[in-house]
Amino acid sequence: MSRRPYISERNIPLLDLAAQHREMGGAVEEAVARVLASTRFIGGPEIDRFESSFADYCGAAHCVGVANGTDALTVALRALGIGPGDEVIVPSMTFIATAESAVLVGADPVIVDVDITTGLMSYDAAAAAIGPRTAAIVAVHLWGQCVDLTRFRELADRHSLVFIEDAAQAHGARFGSARAGSVGDIGCFSFFPGKNLGAVGDAGGIVTSDEAIASAARRIRDHGRDGKYLHGIIGTNARLDPLHAAVLSEKLPYLDGWNQRRRENAAAFDAAFGPIPDVELIHQAPEAESVFHQYVVRVQERDGFQEAMAASGVATGVHYPIPLHQQPSLAPWCADVDAPAADEMGRTVVSLPVDPCLSASDRDYVIETASPIMQGTGAPT
Ligand SMILES: Cc1ncc(COP(=O)(O)O)c(C=O)c1O
Repeated sequence: MSRRPYISERNIPLLDLAAQHREMGGAVEEAVARVLASTRFIGGPEIDRFESSFADYCGAAHCVGVANGTDALTVALRALGIGPGDEVIVPSMTFIATAESAVLVGADPVIVDVDITTGLMSYDAAAAAIGPRTAAIVAVHLWGQCVDLTRFRELADRHSLVFIEDAAQAHGARFGSARAGSVGDIGCFSFFPGKNLGAVGDAGGIVTSDEAIASAARRIRDHGRDGKYLHGIIGTNARLDPLHAAVLSEKLPYLDGWNQRRRENAAAFDAAFGPIPDVELIHQAPEAESVFHQYVVRVQERDGFQEAMAASGVATGVHYPIPLHQQPSLAPWCADVDAPAADEMGRTVVSLPVDPCLSASDRDYVIETASPIMQGTGAPT
């Protein structure tokens, strides 16, 4: 791959939150001011309002706001009774929190390989990993595409396992007619600022249609509280801040539109990059309507590709370079893990800007810049 030294005047980030806020015409700033003026900084109507609208949006009966996506997973596991002695099956190609949460509740993560065409947890690998101690399957809707919710739900039911959807990257995604989060016993979301629905700091939520699970989660997120200064179980402080809830309520009505623009950007990229022989697109299942949290392709010479893109003013990312079974912190659980597809993904995946605020001209520029580099002909001058 040839590389020409070239400093671009363009500067296209992976995500432009300032542009998102501008599009909302001051609603984010007003939401923050509203909470400040109310002085209601813990609990209260902003939490109730967001929880009820996000539950409706997901097609679930309940939403329980929590402090971040990692808490969503740990509170979910605890609310479902997962703990020491239990095994939790997770995919290798994901963010660390998917497995970290299992360890945090005292369970053992069992890390399995992904499908090389989609990056999603391999159904066959998950099925093969089920053993006498398996208590839960946590499937990740990586980069915005849902796993096959019908098959994973059936697999979990057949073995009497809990099924958790890690939907941290998939707000609004669908599999068939079901929204991400609505098929599992619990769906877990992160509202980290860069997510498709993002707060102005760390935030998260779980959704479920089971009243008992929702009330267990509410109790755990709030110190196991049963009444004023009465604590029936050991819980934690994993509450959602009203400040974030207020911002999230303002953003939620925009989410479907933003996701649609992400899909349009992704379709334009697929059309441009699909014919290039050295590039592997990520397969999209016909039943899955992705929300393209990331637009990912696989290239063989990733470092050179990223350097050439950066020199042309286009940011790229890698989600994720080190699969979970190669993470030092998870080594005690990974001695026997063989996940060649996740290894290959870790070596070759690269993310391009798919931000809904990407202008048409910037999208064209990303295509015009990336295509010749992918073809090994170097950066445009
Ligand atoms: C798949 C996945 N799960 C869990 C998390 C954890 O969310 P948070 O960063 O809000 O704790 C993330 C966040 O990046 C994620 O991408």
